[in-house]
Amino acid sequence: MNLIIKNTDKSKFFETENLTREAFWNLYKPGCDEHLALHQLRSGECYVPEMDLVALLDGQIVGHVISTRAKVVDGEAGDSCAAGDAGAVVCDQVLCLGPISAEPSLQGKGIGSQLMRASIARAASLGFKSIILYGNPDYYGRFGFENAVKYKIATRDNQNFDPFMAIELFPGALNGVSGRFYEDSLFFNTEADLVEFEKLFPAKEKGEPRIILPEF
Ligand SMILES: CC(C)(COP(=O)(O)OP(=O)(O)OC[C@H]1O[C@@H](n2cnc3c(N)ncnc32)[C@H](O)[C@@H]1OP(=O)(O)O)[C@@H](O)C(=O)NCCC(=O)NCCS
Repeated sequence: MNLIIKNTDKSKFFETENLTREAFWNLYKPGCDEHLALHQLRSGECYVPEMDLVALLDGQIVGHVISTRAKVVDGEAGDSCAAGDAGAVVCDQVLCLGPISAEPSLQGKGIGSQLMRASIARAASLGFKSIILYGNPDYYGRFGFENAVKYKIATRDNQNFDPFMAIELFPGALNGVSGRFYEDSLFFNTEADLVEFEKLFPAKEKGEPRIILPEF
């Protein structure tokens, strides 16, 4: 597929948020909230414009991915910490990737793969040490992501599971970087925020989720 991968800009924010909504709708829950997370992330200090990418096919947006600034904080200090009350920052040169979306009618044709490879290359060129994400190991493993436990990095709740993955952007990048991973709190929104945000989009029927995620 002959795609152009490039930065998006404000004029395409709504279109990419709608694409995200289409890709995630009824996937992991009735409806979805990933498009709201994307919208919020774009307004925060975590936003890195160079990491907000679209895939174009014949001039049309057919895919999107964003990676935002995140942190690894000291694990010991974080032991009793609630979200937002983290310990000392061990590393702020890490990104959290997601959401990533391909136009539903064009999935499985390489759009996601090209966006992933472009994100990894661009993050490395910007000097970041790592990208960390939550996702299916069968998919992200093919780009070099491994369970973050390899680097002694846990979630903010001090958990580890296969879908919690990291990639080093240069050899040894995560040497000495261990602790808890804090993605930006703008990922987390209230149901009231979602109801309000949904008013901007065409009506869509909620249904049974197609994928049931395990409880962690
Ligand atoms: C995930 C997504 C971005 C991948 O983009 P894509 O263009 O469909 O993927 P590609 O064509 O590059 O890769 C296709 C391969 O990945 C696999 N794949 C795609 N999505 C996958 C997923 N969520 N889990 C596991 N494997 C997946 C396909 O089975 C296919 O495997 P194959 O090469 O062995 O046939 C896209 O499917 C999508 O938008 N999904 C809905 C939203 C979503 O789940 N986002 C990711 C959340 S972690």
